[in-house]
This record gives sequence, structure tokens and C-alpha cells, in this order.
Amino acid sequence: AMFRLAVAVVAYGLGSIPFGLIVTRLGGAGDIRAIGSGNIGATNVLRTGRKGLAAATLLLDGLKGVVAVAGARMAAHLWFAAIPSVAVAAACIAAVAAVVGHCFPVWLRFHGGKGVSTALGVAFALDWRVGLLCAACWLVTARLTRISSAGALVAIGLLPVFLWALDGVWPAVAGLAVAVIVFGRHHENIARLRAGTEPRIGQRSRSA
Ligand code: G3P
Repeated sequence: AMFRLAVAVVAYGLGSIPFGLIVTRLGGAGDIRAIGSGNIGATNVLRTGRKGLAAATLLLDGLKGVVAVAGARMAAHLWFAAIPSVAVAAACIAAVAAVVGHCFPVWLRFHGGKGVSTALGVAFALDWRVGLLCAACWLVTARLTRISSAGALVAIGLLPVFLWALDGVWPAVAGLAVAVIVFGRHHENIARLRAGTEPRIGQRSRSA
């Protein structure tokens, strides 16, 4: 129980690093929370017109998810080598905790991001095939619709399905928890999608 708690706390801490905020500030692009949708994610960083900063945000927010899950799995192997199921449990706990950390970081008084890049990162770390499938769903949907949130909702909505099909019930439960959080953080995007007013990639967004 102590091990699982430690995994959750470390993964939450990693997930709560707001790379979008850090990268835009270091890049001299101002406070990302005052731009576009106000979100701290890569999609909104792209609205500064700084593609490099957006790519860095996507990569770093994804990487913290990878590190959280891979780190939890490695720690489980080190301490509980004889019990393989501990590694699965640790990876699942870390996956959910990293996304919770990104979406509800204590440093930003729990006003974090929407969890898409980090969810993709944990997907790759749980099962790289699932990561590829989700990334492909995001790319295809975003290309067809030119709407980032539409790609995100399709990709992350299918995450628990892919995990269930390829990795069994516990990864699927973790994927479902991640999807519930990501959908919850997109309620404004979902309302705009339904109203047909969600901005397309490369378009100016209304302020949220
Ligand atoms: O997934 C993040 C993206 O789906 C939405 O971001 O800034 O358009 O609300 P934003």
C-alpha cells in the first residue's frame, strides 16, 4: 500500500509540471493563460504562432507521462521482482495520477490543462501499440476536421477500448479513468463542438 501511494504521489508530481506555461514563458511568448482558450496545453501554445514552443509542450507534457509510467514499472521490478502483477498495478496507478497531476496541479491552484498530451504519453508507456493507435486516431481526426479537441476526444475516447483489447482489464480501467478526466476537462470544447463554434487549427480562438 505504501508503494502504491508513493507511485501515485511521484506520478502526480511529474504530471503537475506545467510545461506549456514554462515553455511559453521561457520562449518570451508571455503567459499562455492569457492567450486563446487560456489552456496550458500544446494546442493553445500553437495559438501564439510559435510552432516550436507548441511542439516542445506536446513532447514534454507527453514525456512526463512516459517517465511516470515507465518509472513506476521499473521501481516495481526493482522492489517486487517476484510479483509481476505489481508492475501492472504500479503502471496503471502512475498513468492515472500523471493525468490527474496535469489537469489539477497543486502549483496552479488545481487549474491545469486538459490532459491530452499526457494521456498520449501514458498510452505509449502502457503499450506502445496503443500509443500509436491513439496518436493515429488523433492525427486522422484532426486532419479531417482541422479541430484539435475533436482529435483528442476521439483518440482518448478510444484509449480504454484499445487497452481492453490488447492489455486486459486493469489497463482498461486506468484508460477509462483517464478518458473520464480528459472528457470532463473538455466540457467547454464539447459544448462548442455541438454548437459548431469550436475554432479550427490555425484559426484565432475566442477567449474562454
Ligand atoms: O486537447 C487540448 C485541445 O483539445 C483543446 O485545447 O486550447 O483548444 O481548448 P483548446
